[in-house]
Amino acid sequence: MRQSLVAANWKMNGSIQSNQLLLDALKQGISKIPNTEVAVCPPFVYLQQIKEVLQGTAITWGAQNLSHEAPGAFTGEIAANMLLDFNCKYVIVGHSERRNLYGESDELVAKKFAGAQSVGLIPILCVGELLEERETGKTEPVVQRQLDAVIHLQGITALEQAVIAYEPVWAIGTGKTATPEQAQEVHAFIRQHLAKEDAKIAAKVQILYGGSVKGSNASELFAMPDIDGGLIGGASLKADEFLTICQATR
Ligand code: G3P
Repeated sequence: MRQSLVAANWKMNGSIQSNQLLLDALKQGISKIPNTEVAVCPPFVYLQQIKEVLQGTAITWGAQNLSHEAPGAFTGEIAANMLLDFNCKYVIVGHSERRNLYGESDELVAKKFAGAQSVGLIPILCVGELLEERETGKTEPVVQRQLDAVIHLQGITALEQAVIAYEPVWAIGTGKTATPEQAQEVHAFIRQHLAKEDAKIAAKVQILYGGSVKGSNASELFAMPDIDGGLIGGASLKADEFLTICQATR
């Protein structure tokens, strides 16, 4: 049985003051969520606050991006080892907003994935199709291409210490959630594709769903056999709703 994981992607949101209120509420509520790992991924600038407030609790945390480069002359970038100074466990790589707004290619995402693992971070690899790709029946080839970029660089064993997040781009921030059946179909495809390389790793890897998960739809999504939790955007900024989502895992 795979451990359920619900991760909050705060995206470019927060302030020291609002974070404190949100984190205090999560610390209060985490005791009611014994069987699910809860993680928080804030903007880089709040990692010290997260570390101070969450250290010693059951809540883990991570970053939303990283550079694949070794430390050096890369103005504005954050190296993988720097995230260790803040006791990060995870780092999101290849989020669709990085791919589509900042031009991150499959190959760059694969390098970031490898860079994260090189220092012991667990990458949360985001994959997912655009609306036009879904409407033209390209969902599986797109998701497979995104997965294969990582597998071709590092081999299937790289997926042993990683999490995958299926995030249909057309469902992110739109309120148009994928139906449980739509999500399950792609999650099952991902697991079957990985199983061609290694059945054990395919069975073990956590595959999260992301894209307009709310307190009202989380339990039907998380009830699907190949959905192991969620990567939550907007709803993770509201403590009560995020805790409701975390409690909805199987
Ligand atoms: O990474 C999770 C995010 O893309 C989902 O956003 O606001 O649709 O939950 P949202």
